[in-house]
Amino acid sequence: MFDKVCLIGVGLIGGSIAKAVRAQGLARSIVAYGKEDALDNLKTALDAGVIDAFYLDIASALQQADCVIIATPVGAFRSVFQELKPFWNTDTVYTDTGSTKASIVEAAREVLGYVPENFIPAHPIAGAEKSGVSAARDDLFENKRLIITPLDETCPLAIAKVENLWQKMGSVVSMMDVDHHDTVLAATSHLPHILAFSLVNLLGKKDEKVDIFNYAAGGFKDFSRIASSDPVMWQDICLANREPIIQLIQQLQTELKAVENDLVQNNSQALFEKFTYANIARQRFLNQFDSDMSEKITFKAQPGGCMQGEIRVPGDKSMSHRSIMLGSLAEGVTQVTGFLNAEDALATLNAFRAMGVEIEGPEKGNVTIHGVGKHGLKQPEKALYLGNSGTSMRLLAGLLAGQSFDTELTGDKSLSGRPMKRVTEPLATMGAKIETQDGGTAPLKITGTGELKAIEYDMPIASAQVKSCLLLAGMYAEGETRVKEPAPTRDHTERMLNGFSYPVTRDKDCASINSAGSLSACNIDVPSDISSAAFFLVGASIAANSDLTLKHVGINPTRTGVIDILRLMGANIEVSNEKSVGGEPVADIRVCSSQLKGIDIPEELVPLAIDEFPVLFVAAACAEGQTRLTGAKELRVKESDRIQVMADGLVALGVDAEATEDGMIIQGRIENSIQGGKVNSHGDHRIAMSFSIAALRATSEIVIDDCENVNTSFPEFFELANSVGLKLL
Ligand code: S3P
Repeated sequence: MFDKVCLIGVGLIGGSIAKAVRAQGLARSIVAYGKEDALDNLKTALDAGVIDAFYLDIASALQQADCVIIATPVGAFRSVFQELKPFWNTDTVYTDTGSTKASIVEAAREVLGYVPENFIPAHPIAGAEKSGVSAARDDLFENKRLIITPLDETCPLAIAKVENLWQKMGSVVSMMDVDHHDTVLAATSHLPHILAFSLVNLLGKKDEKVDIFNYAAGGFKDFSRIASSDPVMWQDICLANREPIIQLIQQLQTELKAVENDLVQNNSQALFEKFTYANIARQRFLNQFDSDMSEKITFKAQPGGCMQGEIRVPGDKSMSHRSIMLGSLAEGVTQVTGFLNAEDALATLNAFRAMGVEIEGPEKGNVTIHGVGKHGLKQPEKALYLGNSGTSMRLLAGLLAGQSFDTELTGDKSLSGRPMKRVTEPLATMGAKIETQDGGTAPLKITGTGELKAIEYDMPIASAQVKSCLLLAGMYAEGETRVKEPAPTRDHTERMLNGFSYPVTRDKDCASINSAGSLSACNIDVPSDISSAAFFLVGASIAANSDLTLKHVGINPTRTGVIDILRLMGANIEVSNEKSVGGEPVADIRVCSSQLKGIDIPEELVPLAIDEFPVLFVAAACAEGQTRLTGAKELRVKESDRIQVMADGLVALGVDAEATEDGMIIQGRIENSIQGGKVNSHGDHRIAMSFSIAALRATSEIVIDDCENVNTSFPEFFELANSVGLKLL
């Protein structure tokens, strides 16, 4: 990328840049400039091979450098710019690593008279409490954020070069304006450092009298880690970003004062609410951080193998969501067993915690919900973040439209792109006030009017989420809400409402509810999710010599389309040990290998197998002859466009698959059904798991990128699948 990179300052950050540039082969030579007092450090850098040369005079250091990176403490920028001024070269790219940006831009303006278009202010959000070149690492910036704060006058080409440089060093680059950067960093970095320094000071002074550090528990150690950072550097940063920091210190004082008051007044509830709010907010931050920054998970599915044994897949996702919602609205304590401990269901659980419901667990699938009654929810302090979960967002939209407080629902990138008009439009006719983004997507801002009116709604699409949303809203509406479905969809909401003694009536294709009832707590045993079992039903069908039993699977007839479709294709599936658990049918399912044949999938089965098509497409690829799916346009608006993403992946694996507007046509092959190759799940859990199953009939390894979202519905998939014969690395 560059001929000669010149570093001004080779401490932890400068040294790590030099190492990363070298490791990635981004420059022919790397030199450093420093003053006399940095001589030892420069020598260490040279001896360790971090740099190729160093200079104590800036002119020689800059000669023929096409990239200059200023990595000194922010307090030194004025003098650095003064030294650079006589040699400023318009063909060179200048950038920096300072933790505050306004002060640096200001320094350039003061010293040079303007901010040159080839100076790109940048800030790597990376560091360690250790300093100096000896702590430098070539992977310091990997999967870390790098913020570029361009000005109007900054040259786009130079920005692109700096962006490219950081991306090659492994950073995730984003752009921000200077002031926004400084405000954000004041809150997320500068204030925490000040707090750590201050707490250690406070306790350090006490230590002179009592032996406090000897007994310092883990909390102190974790909290004070950043107080080991370099005092000179932090003195510089804090002074350079004084104003936003002062404001935050004042806000923090108010926060601490409120805690002090709660303690003085012995107000346990207020304390609990504050701590719970913080706890949830932190989880939201971690989720967001994980999805933005986590190392992407790749599955490497080895070809061949068979599936044998007996397993129980995790709890049903749809029922887990509903158990939290209805348990929270019930009078009394609801015990849930078999709860799905995965991100989607936890999004619902956290949302209800944020609305004041005390929920214990999940602990080995057990959750205890201390219901607050139909009118007992409290306004959450912040937007409810629902991650990837469409069910949480759509069902909550109905439930919250009926409350008398305002709420906002947000989600991850995939959820924020999914259609919400299907719920907001009928809710609006009930009198709900919901603001969406243009295009009818989340975030949803719900104004709690507390005044809904019942409607009779003929659903244009067969959707259990829309039906459930309106039934939940109907619990708060004046009159009888009636929802008519064009084809049967999963009826867990109706069944579970009845289980909680809330009357819902059913007349053929129409479910009705009104506001007269109340919910009484009950115990809920969530069976295994047939949508998770589906991967194994297909896996054991397509892999030779398979014989696999799935225990305690929910076989509600509105969910068993996958069994019907596989049986039509010739699968060998036995259902035994049928019983009813809490109003839901449950059974063990045994599946053995068989030679599948292609079919035209009956359209009436589509809503009954709506989540299982990704893996059914894999079955179709291994079946003899053509399989055709029609009437499944809905698949285009699931967690990903499941028609396109599956068609692209199958084609990449040598399968003859053609996406159509509302389905797919696949010409299956018995021999060499699927080739090896690389596919991308587009962050969709069911796509990732489906391609893993495809490896059972692949001729070589299938590499599946972007698999972290498997955690939304089936965190144990990797281990469980490997335990019965899949070979995932
Ligand atoms: C669900 C309903 C289905 C399904 C989703 C869960 C539910 O969505 O795809 O995974 O729990 O109600 P639609 O109702 O949008 O078809």
